[in-house]
Amino acid sequence: MGQTAIIGGGVIGLGVAWELARRGERVTVFERDRVGAGASSAAAGMLCPMAELDFVEDELLALKRDSLARYPEFARALQALTDLDVQLRLEGTLSVAIDRDDAADLRRHYEHRRSLDLPVEWFSGAQVRAAEPALSPRIQAAIYVPGEGQVDNRLLVTALARAAYLAGVEIREGVEVQEILTNGGRVRGVRTSQDLPFEHVVLAAGAWSRRLGLPGFNPPVRPVRGEMIAVMMEPGDALGCVVRAPDCYLVPRADGRLLIGATSDEVGFDTRITAGGLFELLRGATETLPGVREFEVVETWAGLRPGTLDNDPILGHTAIRGLVAATGHYRNGILLLPATAHYISEAVLSGSDPDAIAGFGPRRFDR
Ligand code: FAD
Ligand code: GLY
Repeated sequence: MGQTAIIGGGVIGLGVAWELARRGERVTVFERDRVGAGASSAAAGMLCPMAELDFVEDELLALKRDSLARYPEFARALQALTDLDVQLRLEGTLSVAIDRDDAADLRRHYEHRRSLDLPVEWFSGAQVRAAEPALSPRIQAAIYVPGEGQVDNRLLVTALARAAYLAGVEIREGVEVQEILTNGGRVRGVRTSQDLPFEHVVLAAGAWSRRLGLPGFNPPVRPVRGEMIAVMMEPGDALGCVVRAPDCYLVPRADGRLLIGATSDEVGFDTRITAGGLFELLRGATETLPGVREFEVVETWAGLRPGTLDNDPILGHTAIRGLVAATGHYRNGILLLPATAHYISEAVLSGSDPDAIAGFGPRRFDR
């Protein structure tokens, strides 16, 4: 078996590392900060391939559904090894409409999802309130998607790092990769404070991936800031499942926190939390769940989503032999983790990209 370097200790780098190590590869993860320091700890952890669907997706939808289907076994295997429960909850999601315009828009989404034969249900306002009594009486209708849900992404980072370590992965925190080293069109290692030889290199540096571009591979990844708020729910006004509203989403955690997200700003590598961002989120949240007004604010934060030129992930072999991309997961990296770990480790070990990720190869940007 060969030696693989993974650049980036977010869920994607750690997930690929764990999977490769389970299959016998010797793996080192380089994380310039601490594991989970990037988007992976900032996310809401929603697993919603259908509730978050755009009209234009098809191949990505298939990959997202593939990944969601892998989650129960993935979480079970993590828990068996680490004893950590990542709080996978698949109780379904509600996408709600607050006024008549929202309802007309939601209906178009519903018809589109039905046309794709997706398992979606239309709920009247009364059905929504029967399911989630704390939601606003103004809500007109909702789409319910059974089987979607959430995972606690911060617990996921901890569990993945422990699983990778137990499987033999060397995790080097506080070590920045400055350059990917090549020779004659083939990768030969990475440069940190010294040059280190590796047979394979996986680029999983999230929003920072473009900085490691080199002749022959320049990943078009950009940071897209998302701001979030966590409040502590009061028992009488608590929410049971993930709710997506026109101006925010609400993710209730088992420990009583309610995550309210997220803004979406093209402001470069700026992770400041703005008054305007918090205002918009709280406005959307109180309109959807009036009890939020009384909830205690426990945390605010911001993270950088790795968006790409077409906002699809970049997965698979680059033009440089031995260099594999696993980046650009944009709004879906937590959801796409099990599929990415599976297909990227397969790509590294077999030397070719599995069909399931063929449409997401880095070379699509050469055209
Ligand atoms: P990251 O977690 O950003 O990890 C990259 C790591 O690489 C970082 O730790 C960084 O320090 C390290 N690094 C960078 N450069 C170098 C270098 N040169 N050397 C060494 N290390 C380096 N996705 C979902 O599926 N569901 C959600 O509900 C969801 N909600 C989100 C909400 C917000 C507010 C945000 C910001 C994102 C959300 N996402 C969600 C998206 C998801 O968080 C990302 O797609 C995913 O975390 C990307 O994981 P990653 O490992 O590729 O990147
Ligand atoms: N997927 C949720 C977000 O990116 O905000």
